[in-house]
Amino acid sequence: MNTQISPLFNDIKQVLIDEEAIALRIREMGEKITQDYRGKDLILLCVLKGSLLFAPDLMRHIQVPLVLDFIAISSYGDATSTSGVVRIVKDLEESIENRHVLIVEDIVDTGLTLGYLIKALKLRKPASIRTCTLLDKPVRRILEVPIDYKGFEIGDHFVVGYGLDFAGRYRNLPAIGILKDELINRA
Ligand code: IMP
Ligand code: MG
Repeated sequence: MNTQISPLFNDIKQVLIDEEAIALRIREMGEKITQDYRGKDLILLCVLKGSLLFAPDLMRHIQVPLVLDFIAISSYGDATSTSGVVRIVKDLEESIENRHVLIVEDIVDTGLTLGYLIKALKLRKPASIRTCTLLDKPVRRILEVPIDYKGFEIGDHFVVGYGLDFAGRYRNLPAIGILKDELINRA
């Protein structure tokens, strides 16, 4: 399928990572996670809404029994950056005590969101917490956070697509791209 025909691509300045590259990398990540979690009681924790495409695609390539759970967090900030003040909007349904938690994030930017999440979940006494992110923007880091599985490192761009949004939109773009400047500035 030629995704370039989606009208959503008209708002994209540059495609950074196309569908095929995303799929290939996710398969590799899933294989690594499979090796690491053999024999462990794994809870895959999908962080909403950004991981809504990534988590299920990754899960298809994790060949150990797992339980999927969701957490929704909201961070205060403007449309393209977070203030680091994070709130749990929808909590887990599962108890994570003595279980192995793998947090699945769309992107680590300043690190404040993931840092908050790890701290909050540690209080619940899991056997282990690891993190998996599709994208990493290391140059933006304010808080050092451990990233155990990483899809791609990107530069200092605001990206959308494959779950990532700008003001709630573009999550359904099948690739990851940089929005046109005029669209960001207009918001
Ligand atoms: P952090 O707390 O600064 O690491 O950012 C965490 C959240 O900010 C991510 O889970 C995203 O929801 C959002 N975010 C950061 N950078 C981008 C981006 O380039 N595009 C879309 N969302 C982003
Ligand atoms: Mg977001």
